[in-house]
Amino acid sequence: MSEPVIIAHGGAWAIPDNLVEAHVNGVREAVATAWRVLEGGGSALDAVEEAVVVMEDDDSFDAGRGSFLNREGKVQLDALLMDGATLRAGGVGCVEHIANPIRAARKVLSESPHIYFVAEGAERFAREHDIPLCPNEDLIIPREVERLRAFQATAAGAQTGLFSPMISHDTVGAVALDRSGNIAAATSTGGTLNKAPGRLGDSSLIGCGCYADNESAAVSTTGWGEPIMKLVLAKWAADRVASGNLPAWVAAEAMNYLKKRVNGHGGIIILSASGRFGLAHNTPRMAWASRTPRELSSGINCVP
Ligand code: GLY
Repeated sequence: MSEPVIIAHGGAWAIPDNLVEAHVNGVREAVATAWRVLEGGGSALDAVEEAVVVMEDDDSFDAGRGSFLNREGKVQLDALLMDGATLRAGGVGCVEHIANPIRAARKVLSESPHIYFVAEGAERFAREHDIPLCPNEDLIIPREVERLRAFQATAAGAQTGLFSPMISHDTVGAVALDRSGNIAAATSTGGTLNKAPGRLGDSSLIGCGCYADNESAAVSTTGWGEPIMKLVLAKWAADRVASGNLPAWVAAEAMNYLKKRVNGHGGIIILSASGRFGLAHNTPRMAWASRTPRELSSGINCVP
């Protein structure tokens, strides 16, 4: 019997002062929802799914409704979750008509022999499994229309600013440990601002933006996806926990490696099956919250 743990993140970038409260409230709400699942004896997999749904439903974050727009002004979403007990995973990529892609990903994990669906095939799979589809316009909010307009109006910005840590990277994620000793991870994103249609980031790729194995760790990353993909960073981190390193140390090392090797930026949360966890970011801020039976913590730019 294990003591449950949940950690959630809501993006790593230079979160401005006026958005701090919304971000911290969002991750705290995600953790509170997941905690009710874990306290009631629910699985880590259910807990991370519910945590991510809360953040997809919160338009403060780059996930679900309110996500960044691609260069054609559409929302395209990616999500993945993974069960550390069985190594089963489910992911969807480039979906345009699903408000909660993590729900569709969960259906892939639970009800498909496959692991990954993209675009129209993912939407068809979702519909066939009772996930509601919606017009893409329902996922678009005026803030993001204006953000894209301003970005595209600045040609120099489009060339140099897109992957700055000052630009929002509000990908969300969660990792959890349940009473049975199983861990799970989930990550969901709208990707990067002004991305090319069909561009897939790290978030929904196993081992890049998300990974879970009871024999190593549950990991979720956030930040600029392409460098994270090059390093298969979530699996890199899980392997180092499996080698006996503490998650807090691995999280810091992962950020050093990301910066040094590929000049990347972002954040990471890591949880081992023994309940040890760590988080780190090499951006000015990262929104996070955690809960254990003894402690509820949250923050914007410091480790617990
Ligand atoms: N980390 C989110 C993305 O780059 O798509």
